[in-house]
Amino acid sequence: MQILDGKAAAQSIKDALKLDVAQLASNGREVPHLVAILVGTNGASETYVAAKVKACEEVGFKSTLIRFEESITAFRLLETIRELNGDPDVDGILVQLPLPAHISSEEIINAIDPSKDVDGFHPSTVGRLVLGQPTFIPATPYGIQLLLAHYKIETAGKHAVVIGRSNIVGRPMSILLSAAGPQGNATVTICHSHTKNLAEVCRSADIIIAALGRPGFVTADMVKEGAVVIDVGITRVDDPTRKRGYRIAGDVAFDEVSAKAGFITPVPGGVGPMTIAALLKNTFHACALKHY
Ligand code: GUN
Repeated sequence: MQILDGKAAAQSIKDALKLDVAQLASNGREVPHLVAILVGTNGASETYVAAKVKACEEVGFKSTLIRFEESITAFRLLETIRELNGDPDVDGILVQLPLPAHISSEEIINAIDPSKDVDGFHPSTVGRLVLGQPTFIPATPYGIQLLLAHYKIETAGKHAVVIGRSNIVGRPMSILLSAAGPQGNATVTICHSHTKNLAEVCRSADIIIAALGRPGFVTADMVKEGAVVIDVGITRVDDPTRKRGYRIAGDVAFDEVSAKAGFITPVPGGVGPMTIAALLKNTFHACALKHY
């Protein structure tokens, strides 16, 4: 069994980006600028946004964090997005989800200029992905693609089972795996809460992508010997023995599954760092596109 070390793979991507940014700067060009919008004080969202901003700093990007109170109106948020859309100094706009219940995330995402949609959530960005003309690939599936590529894991002709059909991970992941091209050409099954015989479907998988948000859901009896297991879960589970009072749990029962899998991602240190590296790549791409 080999651990797919997302932290190391992400570092090599960041090192390459750092060189690209240094080159831009030495040519007197603007460096990429990511603006993240955070509404409210959701603990997990705070952590993710802080990690994104820190990663920007690491590679030499400019980043701006705009914070709003939980009580902000959709109108005010839309106004901010309109300003950022029109600001030539801004390359990427990211609105951290989830938003408070009184705001429609759909309405907000739809307002982002697709040329700055580095999260890849705008309907036109998703449409392009489906049609095989991607501009920005959502960061988590993109990060998984980059991780598979880093370890030269072949997907063509393989049976990939994606558990979870979210717009952020499962759905785009299934599209990418089934598309023509590198890290694609797989035969894909998407499983969700209505799937019958889920364990049996998983047992026939060469590649499992677990993205349902239920700690320890994938157990050893669901995994074929030698399978590639990618764990997208990042649920906070109470743990009084930890300093923060919680630990981060993946969707895969790591100890038992790792004894059977050929390749497996740890949590933390697997998909998480790759998601951030992918977001940085999208932001660099948004900046580069502006100059064509
Ligand atoms: N919430 C959970 N994942 C994501 C993500 O990839 N982007 C944003 N903006 N919010 C999220």
